Amino acid sequence: MINIQKAAVIGCGFVGSSIAYALMQKGTFSEIVLLDANQKKAEGEAMDISHGLPFAHAMDIYAGGYEDIRDASVIIITAGANQKPGESRLDLVQKNAKIMKSVIGEIKRVKCEGILLVVSNPVDILTYVALKESGFPPSRVIGSGTVLDTARLKYILSEKLKVDSRNVHAFIIGEHGDSELAAWSCANIYGIPLQEFARMKGYKSFAKEMDEIYHAVRDSAYEIIERKGATYYGIGMAAARIAESIVRDSHTVAPVSVLLNGEYGLSGLCLSIPAIVGNEGAEQVLEIAFSEEENEKLKKSAGELKTVLENIR
Ligand code: LAC
Repeated sequence: MINIQKAAVIGCGFVGSSIAYALMQKGTFSEIVLLDANQKKAEGEAMDISHGLPFAHAMDIYAGGYEDIRDASVIIITAGANQKPGESRLDLVQKNAKIMKSVIGEIKRVKCEGILLVVSNPVDILTYVALKESGFPPSRVIGSGTVLDTARLKYILSEKLKVDSRNVHAFIIGEHGDSELAAWSCANIYGIPLQEFARMKGYKSFAKEMDEIYHAVRDSAYEIIERKGATYYGIGMAAARIAESIVRDSHTVAPVSVLLNGEYGLSGLCLSIPAIVGNEGAEQVLEIAFSEEENEKLKKSAGELKTVLENIR
């Protein structure tokens, strides 16, 4: 039996513990179990985070083993090595695919019935590995994908245009990584097409800014890693938001990494496309009429991921 109020976080490095911290503050779950290859690390994080409970919502957060995650409704996987300065997400693939396979082996052993939310990088590749290894239906295995990149896009646009980032509707699709693209043809501010809004704000043309913003979004992780060695607060909030959409069954549209099965002429890989996320995981992958140029870039991004998938040992 699934306990909808219970989440598991596998991997308690900076990313896993930031997700747990964000979830605790949001009060999304009444129970969170933390797992790490280093049990003491999981215990320390659980203790530290639980000391914030008097300032947040009553809940139970503790370190456990795989037996404890059987009934979790959302299993968030962050296990794996992270990028070092100068490394791309794809550089991590061989090491992290192995780790993912062993994590999924354990998840199958204890017969988890919840939704798998893959966060480890390269997230699109590892979501596909998790899907194949688990044998779960595609809706139950999703990756955090470009939800974070989309937040970065909204934030940078909001700064540029001096408008609340929650009024910005724009998103990033494709690989969570170097080949990602902005779906500019869908971008709007409170329903007002982006370029028209930019004109209202005094821009004659916004094209140069759009190009700069895209590059800033795409290279955000590199910029942060160069300065502080890792990224974790942004992804912590992004993953917590996805988990929340699942538990609350809110049918939220989010660019999660999902299996493509013919949509956009693509199949046999996971990448980010806006999907409807609820209790069942990715309930529907949306087929959006992107511009021709966007469709081309999406194909190219898929091509790069396919090459990586073919070379996993
Ligand atoms: C980032 C990592 C999570 O983009 O891939 O910050």
